[in-house]
Amino acid sequence: MVIKKLTLNNFRNYEAETFTFSEGLNVLTGRNAQGKTNCAEAVFYLCTGASLRIRHDRQLIRHGEACARIGAEAVTRFGAVALEAAIFENKRELFLNGNKLARAADFVGNMNSVFFSPGELRLIQDGPDERRRFLNLSISQTSRAYCTALARYQRILDQRNNLLKERDVSLVRETLPVWDEQLSVYAARIVLNRRRYLRALSPLAADAHAYLTDGAEKLALSMDGEYPDDEEEIAARILEQLSAARERDLRLGFTSVGPHRDDIRITIDGADARGYASQGQARTAALSLKLAETEIFKMLAGEAPVLILDDVMSELDLPRRKKLLDRVKHIQCILTCTHAERVLYGAECNKIRIREGKIVL
Ligand SMILES: Nc1ncnc2c1ncn2[C@@H]1O[C@H](COP(=O)(O)OP(=O)(O)OP(=O)(O)O)[C@@H](O)[C@H]1O
Ligand SMILES: [Mg+2]
Repeated sequence: MVIKKLTLNNFRNYEAETFTFSEGLNVLTGRNAQGKTNCAEAVFYLCTGASLRIRHDRQLIRHGEACARIGAEAVTRFGAVALEAAIFENKRELFLNGNKLARAADFVGNMNSVFFSPGELRLIQDGPDERRRFLNLSISQTSRAYCTALARYQRILDQRNNLLKERDVSLVRETLPVWDEQLSVYAARIVLNRRRYLRALSPLAADAHAYLTDGAEKLALSMDGEYPDDEEEIAARILEQLSAARERDLRLGFTSVGPHRDDIRITIDGADARGYASQGQARTAALSLKLAETEIFKMLAGEAPVLILDDVMSELDLPRRKKLLDRVKHIQCILTCTHAERVLYGAECNKIRIREGKIVL
């Protein structure tokens, strides 16, 4: 997939600007606070229907304006697509090829991206939440079934948790089995999908990490918990776990077992990356995960996503920078940095210079 054109109107610090991207490497340069990440964020928004950094879309609207517009033209293996998002104070309108869409779900996935920024270090260093978020986002982009299962699971889980806080304990004991039955069905789908995804991701991430470190480090990923490889058997197993945990859950007031507690175990040379990795190691591991995600995407969707690398180069040492550039040669990449000369080493690219929300010609 290739994004050809991106148009921003009253988006963040952009008043009106059009970017023309090429296949391969596109480099956005500029000093701090000029609009590089904002441009990358706009691409991400069109791919995922969600913003990178914030909860409220209204922050995307240029100060003092009523509406922000982001539009893009891309060529995918299904042909040309035009996406547009109009973001207002309290609502948004999404368009696909000029037609207004009733549901956001029809917007997401028409363009795909993998995003990497220094913040992705959280993936390695923070608690399980970040890693579940990574799994959910990655798997959802290529599987609507997973997306649906996740939403239903969350809804039933919320209801079960509310029930656990009820005072009438005998009523709760009576009702719980019904919820558990339903919960286990969606839980099994999530558990199975995540494990399959990780089984595919793990060797690719190990490979990317070995490549970036010249074979010096061995990255390994695994999911906590042993499960059978059959959805119904997993559901039965989870149902057992839920009933075994019932009394404890009643005391705790929340559900203590299930995929909402899942975690990916990440090790470098056998040591837990979360506790032991250096900053550079953790950064490289996170990058390897993202490169692996890009590969899987290619396998599942039949074409590569756009890889967005925001401010990544300055954080890597010289050999790793060169290797990264070499690795992403064959896909469209949008890379931001402050000094192109220091990171590109003459690599062929479409260089776009940004100053105060405008392209410098
Ligand atoms: N809604 C908005 N309206 C106007 N300006 C905004 C809005 N949101 C963000 N900005 C401004 O956009 C500017 C550029 O932000 P951006 O994150 O894109 O910078 P950057 O070029 O990536 O810089 P850095 O190199 O520091 O990462 C910031 O100064 C910010 O204040
Ligand atoms: Mg930035």
